Amino acid sequence: MVYPAIEKLVEIAFQNAPHSEHNEHILVAKLRQNADFIPALSLCAKDEQGQIIGYVLLSKIMVGNQNELALAPIAVLPEYQGQGVGKALILHAHTVAKSLGFSYSILLGDPNYYQKLDYQNASKFGIVSPFDVPDEYFMAYPLYSPPKKIAGIVVYPPEFGGLIYLNFHNCKILGKSHRLFFFQHFKNFPKMKNNLSFFAILLHI
Ligand SMILES: CC(C)(COP(=O)(O)OP(=O)(O)OC[C@H]1O[C@@H](n2cnc3c(N)ncnc32)[C@H](O)[C@@H]1OP(=O)(O)O)[C@@H](O)C(=O)NCCC(=O)NCCS
Repeated sequence: MVYPAIEKLVEIAFQNAPHSEHNEHILVAKLRQNADFIPALSLCAKDEQGQIIGYVLLSKIMVGNQNELALAPIAVLPEYQGQGVGKALILHAHTVAKSLGFSYSILLGDPNYYQKLDYQNASKFGIVSPFDVPDEYFMAYPLYSPPKKIAGIVVYPPEFGGLIYLNFHNCKILGKSHRLFFFQHFKNFPKMKNNLSFFAILLHI
């Protein structure tokens, strides 16, 4: 069975990774259970002995009304890092993704690494992050040249987290400025009393 080996690899690879919550292997296990899981975009690299040394997963996300892909995670065993394994996995994933009809691979990650693989600020393509992160960390790779037209806030599947911030509007109530934040909460998040999947919070600013 290859899945335990993949999860172990992901866990080991992220053990010393900065900006990691060290739960990426759990994300992989959860995403595999998702009805939208795409086996062809769950890719392993092996050494000559057949040991799994690298792994990348691309999963379906929504951008506006369009299906695109999120790249997460990418992981290479520490002793094999810096030898082109990660790059080879990502380039191959791009080829498969394009052949399946997707237009973008989107990710939240370290620009120092992903810029080397030609990822650019997602906002440049009209792809808006649902997270409050600096622009350069939310990146996209267009699978077509020229890039396909697209616009919208990214909506991740529930496995990525319990709560995703979608948008806000400024408004005035009794002459005071308020900001109305919209959130989506997911099925594995502690259930709300009324089981709402969307909710909003009003804050005085
Ligand atoms: C990030 C990771 C997947 C890279 O895989 P890798 O096989 O070591 O990377 P590659 O050898 O394919 O490197 C490709 C290029 O990126 C560069 N690079 C590799 N890791 C880098 C890093 N952390 N920061 C900046 N550049 C990096 C390489 O020098 C290489 O550049 P070059 O083409 O100019 O020579 C791997 O280091 C890893 O598993 N890290 C722990 C998990 C992790 O952090 N995942 C990413 C989350 S954002």
